[in-house]
Amino acid sequence: MVTICLANHKGGTGKTSLTINLGTYFARKKLKVLLVDMDPQGHVAPGIGVEVGYNDRSMADILSNQEDISKIIQKTPVKNLDIAPANIRLSLVNETLYNSFKRERRLMKSMDSIYKNKTYNLVIIDCPPSLGPLIENTLMVVDYCLIPCEPSSRSIDGLADFILKLKEVREGALDDNWSIVLSRVKKAARLTNEVIEEKLSDYKDRILKTKIYERESINQAQMAGIPVFDFPRGAQASDNFTKFGKEVSIQCRIK
Ligand SMILES: Nc1ncnc2c1ncn2[C@@H]1O[C@H](COP(=O)(O)OP(=O)(O)OP(=O)(O)O)[C@@H](O)[C@H]1O
Ligand SMILES: [Mg+2]
Repeated sequence: MVTICLANHKGGTGKTSLTINLGTYFARKKLKVLLVDMDPQGHVAPGIGVEVGYNDRSMADILSNQEDISKIIQKTPVKNLDIAPANIRLSLVNETLYNSFKRERRLMKSMDSIYKNKTYNLVIIDCPPSLGPLIENTLMVVDYCLIPCEPSSRSIDGLADFILKLKEVREGALDDNWSIVLSRVKKAARLTNEVIEEKLSDYKDRILKTKIYERESINQAQMAGIPVFDFPRGAQASDNFTKFGKEVSIQCRIK
């Protein structure tokens, strides 16, 4: 089983869209995939057509009561794709975790059974836009971290802080296992894109070749609660995600 996450403490960089569409890409390749939502905003479930209410069981219960994650896993409308959803109650748990003993190991313990039973080939974790305990718990369990970045100065400011966090939490274990994904790239903004790539030149070798372009269909598919692969006007975005999925499978050694 390979575990990856989409993480960046900047908001709106495409973490959730990438989680859903990458998960769907691999599920369509017949891998058994689990999406784990570690963001109290809980956007993964509605984005894939699963309804989760305030009182429904979610990652909040798993992390606060230290329960097994399998207790909240649900099927999604996509074959081979399951979800461990989140809801806003996770934000309260996040607050309590700050003062908890071994606060960064909660998720790891709750995933014991799916590691032992080899239930999934791939786990993809969507992260909140923050640097607190939820991201620490996530970084503790992943083999690889993908960092979606929008090509804007605001988005790349603070990237070094995130990378430092990644190195700190795992004491070097993830040193080589992270990549930057340029996402929401506007093709027409050629000059801006050039300036940003120049600004990111220190990380040149860390940037994946495939960029995710800004497309209406990606936004619309997410609002409709379906992956772009099933969206009627999603052909170009699907091609983009197929190319991206192929590169991720090599980079993250997903078979
Ligand atoms: N490539 C894209 N093209 C067009 N719209 C996109 C694209 N990627 C994301 N969006 C839209 O931008 C918004 C933010 O994207 P998304 O929710 O994936 O970002 P996020 O990093 O998960 O945000 P947050 O930090 O709040 O969790 C959403 O409305 C989404 O549909
Ligand atoms: Mg999100």
